Amino acid sequence: MIKIAPSILAADPINLEKDVRRAVEAGCDWIHVDVMDAHFVPNLAYSPDTVRRLKEVCPVPLDVHLMMDQPETLLDAFLDAGAANVTVHAEVGDISGLIRKIHEKGATAGVALRPGTPLAAVQPYLESAELILTMTVEPGFGGQKLDERVIGKIRELRENGYTGEIEADGGIRMDNIRRLAESGLSVAVMGTALFRHGDMQAAISELHRI
Ligand code: DX5
Ligand code: ZN
Repeated sequence: MIKIAPSILAADPINLEKDVRRAVEAGCDWIHVDVMDAHFVPNLAYSPDTVRRLKEVCPVPLDVHLMMDQPETLLDAFLDAGAANVTVHAEVGDISGLIRKIHEKGATAGVALRPGTPLAAVQPYLESAELILTMTVEPGFGGQKLDERVIGKIRELRENGYTGEIEADGGIRMDNIRRLAESGLSVAVMGTALFRHGDMQAAISELHRI
């Protein structure tokens, strides 16, 4: 069963608790927190304090995605705030030390790739990272169109024997998730398609049946 991780980037920012409760009650598996530094991506989003408060009200794991050039500057803060998983981008350099730090604090570690970054960039981390995030849009904004090239990346990861979580993030809709699932996806980050859906519970139940 595919795990569904609603991205709060698509939630109502001044009614965040309400939207997170709606997603949890609708049966989501994780809550995906897109952290942005206005440098690695041209957008700004979420602080460790937001994660701390979310942890107090949210019973499902917080899946924190650091779209930051220097994730080491706030890694401890996000871990101490209660992140269950922290994902950092392979494009920022050698992240093996960050993965060790994430594990030392008892969280799981993810490694993310932009759509255009080749799979070779995650090769050094396949033994240590519990999750590989193959971004299906150029990071920074929700509501974009899924980049079909990434379906091949997911399939190749599985064919190369990766047995951890493979997560996709961006542009995932009810009408394209089946192909992602067939290629080996295990976690779907969905923002727009869920928070704009008239019946989130029905949507998540349908997604869980895929
Ligand atoms: C991009 C963001 C988006 C968002 C989900 O950096 O990470 O991928 O979470 O996007 P949509 O709204 O297309 O599901
Ligand atoms: Zn994300």
